[in-house]
Amino acid sequence: MSPPPVRRAGPRDAERVTRLWLALGEHQAPFDPAFAQRRDEAAWDAARGVIDRLLADPDAALFLAEREGAPVALCIVRAARAPAVAVERERAEISDLFVEASARRQGLGRVLVDHAMGWVRERDIPRVTVRVANANPEGQAFWRALGFGELVDVLSRRV
Ligand SMILES: CC(C)(COP(=O)(O)OP(=O)(O)OC[C@H]1O[C@@H](n2cnc3c(N)ncnc32)[C@H](O)[C@@H]1OP(=O)(O)O)[C@@H](O)C(=O)NCCC(=O)NCCS
Repeated sequence: MSPPPVRRAGPRDAERVTRLWLALGEHQAPFDPAFAQRRDEAAWDAARGVIDRLLADPDAALFLAEREGAPVALCIVRAARAPAVAVERERAEISDLFVEASARRQGLGRVLVDHAMGWVRERDIPRVTVRVANANPEGQAFWRALGFGELVDVLSRRV
């Protein structure tokens, strides 16, 4: 099956984007307590707040794919200034990427990342970073298949 079309999300998509964003959180929760998320109503409001802010942020872009009106995939990319001393003055991060289980391995993740990379290229940003949990084998395989390589190890310890 060919992947559904991808478009830039806008304010009217806030609810469906929030749903996908929370689904990504659910997916990551079993990896480590560091990724655990609340499930109460306040959690929904907090998530919705995050998405509303991102949708209004000129330094962020959200890409959405829908199949028969139902949201199936989301990619969020953000740009940030580097410290003035850095040669690479701006940085971009793909902070969130999620494809519904039923839509995986059809090229949709790749298409979403292509859109995000296009947005980054338009801004002349020379580098895109992603953070992927060590315990996420499909995410690890996906990013490496797209040419992403290791840069830093993020170490973590419970206090
Ligand atoms: C990771 C994820 C976004 C990949 O999306 P996708 O639409 O299935 O990926 P694509 O079909 O575009 O795959 C592109 C390539 O990545 C690699 N890849 C993707 N999923 C893989 C898997 N489960 N195992 C091994 N390689 C994989 C393959 O090389 C694939 O090319 P191929 O299908 O021609 O072999 C999707 O599995 C997902 O949403 N997972 C849950 C959320 C998540 O982990 N997000 C990433 C957080 S950093």
